[in-house]
Amino acid sequence: MSCCSGQNTTALSDSDAVKAVNDAYSARALRSGEDAQHSKAVAAAFGFTAEELSSVPAESYMGLSCGNPTAFAKLKEGERVLDLGSGGGIDVFLAASKVGQTGQAIGLDGSAEMVALARGNAAKQGLKPPHVAFVQVALEKDLPIESNSIDCIISNCVINLLPLAGKANALKEAFRVLKPGGRLVLDDIIARKPLPPHIKDDPVGNVNCISGAITGGEYEAILDDAGFKDTLFVDRKSDLNVYWQDRSSCCQGTTDLMGRPEWPQDFDVNEWTGSYEIYAVKPASGEPVTAPPTSLLRWWDAYPTVKASLPFLTAEEVATLVRDPVLKSNDKVAVIDVRRNDHAGGHVRGSEQWPAQTFYDDLPGFFERHKDTEKVIFYCQSSNGRGPRSAGWYQDYLDSKPQGEHTSKAYVLAGGIKGWKAKFTDDSGLLEYDP
Ligand SMILES: C[S@@+](CC[C@H](N)C(=O)[O-])C[C@H]1O[C@@H](n2cnc3c(N)ncnc32)[C@H](O)[C@@H]1O
Repeated sequence: MSCCSGQNTTALSDSDAVKAVNDAYSARALRSGEDAQHSKAVAAAFGFTAEELSSVPAESYMGLSCGNPTAFAKLKEGERVLDLGSGGGIDVFLAASKVGQTGQAIGLDGSAEMVALARGNAAKQGLKPPHVAFVQVALEKDLPIESNSIDCIISNCVINLLPLAGKANALKEAFRVLKPGGRLVLDDIIARKPLPPHIKDDPVGNVNCISGAITGGEYEAILDDAGFKDTLFVDRKSDLNVYWQDRSSCCQGTTDLMGRPEWPQDFDVNEWTGSYEIYAVKPASGEPVTAPPTSLLRWWDAYPTVKASLPFLTAEEVATLVRDPVLKSNDKVAVIDVRRNDHAGGHVRGSEQWPAQTFYDDLPGFFERHKDTEKVIFYCQSSNGRGPRSAGWYQDYLDSKPQGEHTSKAYVLAGGIKGWKAKFTDDSGLLEYDP
């Protein structure tokens, strides 16, 4: 029985519907540890084994799934998997264990809170980018993934949440990023017959994964249009009432996921909708395909966005600090080169090399080393990408620490090594080359 009141059955615009979904799942992510019994019961009802559930953090599943895609995806060592709407990360973690260290498992989700939760869960598992990465992206937009680079796309109870145009775009993008011969293995809610308007337009029913369900015929048309072949729908015949049974909490807002939507008494959710496995393939091209080294379009998408705004120091200001023998001997200044390959070909004399691509994961060790370094100055080639980003991650890390734990602050060398070399070409006290 429902405990919610005041349901609104006026259809929302696509953007308002996406926002309502995002708000509801962000709120759920912030309560990830709650209702663990219920989360486990829902996961078990949709096919996760006790062994699978004990191999992942409890906060990675919150009773939001409608299947277990990695159980059917036939994942192999070395494959690359993409999860659309990855939530707390359960399917990404199960995929990662199947594809091993030589594979890659990437989760995409539109909710910043879900992505933060999944990244925290990955850290608990000792899983790091690029092997396991979570990226915040709205699925109705272009995906930040290389074309023809993914072996298998999975998704668990997500596509129904997108507006119709968003469903079509997400599946077109899925086709683009799959390698020729790659496969789609989705679990989703499908309408057994067209839903009546008062159900279809119910925003609470929508965030609960029911109102946005389309029929198998409509789904197939979208997959055909995207270019997929060999589409197959398998009815799992699950009881969808499990989502709303035995909740320990009651809903607080109209789109709160902790409560059952206020459907009419005679609306039998299992008669109108069902959870399905959906399979499809991107036809093989016959041509050999060379996938890029990683499927992420931008490696830094796998890390948090920088919050701090950073002070820049000119090359002359940094030169004065670097030349100062007292500062140097007291370890009050450090200059950090975050480039990966170019350090040997000319760097600020005495600078330490900490490549940006691994810097975020190295932050605890970097902090221990530099927490009492008053000025930590970062640079890359021109200091307009990796340098400011690494400096920002460090400053955010410093800002997350209690006052008194450090005396450090991040800066950026304006103009990077390019500007430095142009100014100090002949000054071997400032510019150094590895032998
Ligand atoms: C029902 S939950 C499923 C989560 C996860 N797949 C699982 O099984 O636990 C739906 C997920 O899709 C995400 N999502 C919903 N609409 C989205 C959109 N338009 N773009 C990106 N992610 C979206 C939500 O933030 C949420 O994490």
